[in-house]
Amino acid sequence: QSRKTLVDIHKLYGNKTPILMVTSYDYITGKYAASAGVDINLIGDSLAMTCLGYEDTNQLPFEEFLYHVKAVERGDKQSFIVADLPFGTYEASPEKALETSVQLIKEGRIQAVKLEGGHPSMISNISKIIDSGIPVMGHVGLTPQRHNVLGGFKLQGTDTNRALQIYEECVLLQKAGCFAIVLECIPNRLAEYITSKLSIPTIGIGAGPHCSGQVLVMADLLGMLDDESHPPAKFVKKYASFSSEAVKAIQQYRSDLKGVFPQEDIHGYKMKRDALLEFK
Ligand code: KIV
Ligand code: NA
Repeated sequence: QSRKTLVDIHKLYGNKTPILMVTSYDYITGKYAASAGVDINLIGDSLAMTCLGYEDTNQLPFEEFLYHVKAVERGDKQSFIVADLPFGTYEASPEKALETSVQLIKEGRIQAVKLEGGHPSMISNISKIIDSGIPVMGHVGLTPQRHNVLGGFKLQGTDTNRALQIYEECVLLQKAGCFAIVLECIPNRLAEYITSKLSIPTIGIGAGPHCSGQVLVMADLLGMLDDESHPPAKFVKKYASFSSEAVKAIQQYRSDLKGVFPQEDIHGYKMKRDALLEFK
């Protein structure tokens, strides 16, 4: 089966079939996404926290991110793969934004990029990337790279002014030619309004059930990281408990060392009979 393309994404949108997006980190999680048949596989810069242990996404060095992008692509030959543009790699100018995007496409062998923000000055950077033949996914609402100006990681667009601003950013992103927009942590009603007004898909996370698709962070949906200091957000649904399963398995391994594993016959190898005499 060959890799999904933008045509497949447009088809899902046209048929009103929910678009399934997840984030991946490496070869293993890339393979999970491919085997499950996801539509869009995002290498999100949230891997800074979920996979690499950084405080926030702003700390993520580009070279470390690129290493993960390459690994995901090696594991996933099925999904339409999008990579985030990390903080500090695209804001300065249209040329800088294009240069980073080209490097991700060339070296990461992925299909599209995503970047945060839809304010007018960002639109010219987005246009430059799209004009060069690279599809761009927008991202508005709670944009984690901008948490310092947003005053933290919190719900956006509850008042009229901010809600209108988010809507207007979406209109600009669509006009610039974005193929889809992530709506993060905004009220359900605002996401529903935006989705009804746009002619490109919206992908929600913490944006309610009325978006064209949904995205969940792989570490959250698989329960890969039971971290008391970072409890999951309200909008997360956990479908598995990888972290507690992993710890249980390793503890079982320890207790098996007392005579249960490895087994003489099942897990071991035999020597040739005549060689055996030398080692009696
Ligand atoms: O980095 C990320 O995981 C993301 C998704 C939450 C959209 O940007
Ligand atoms: Na991101």
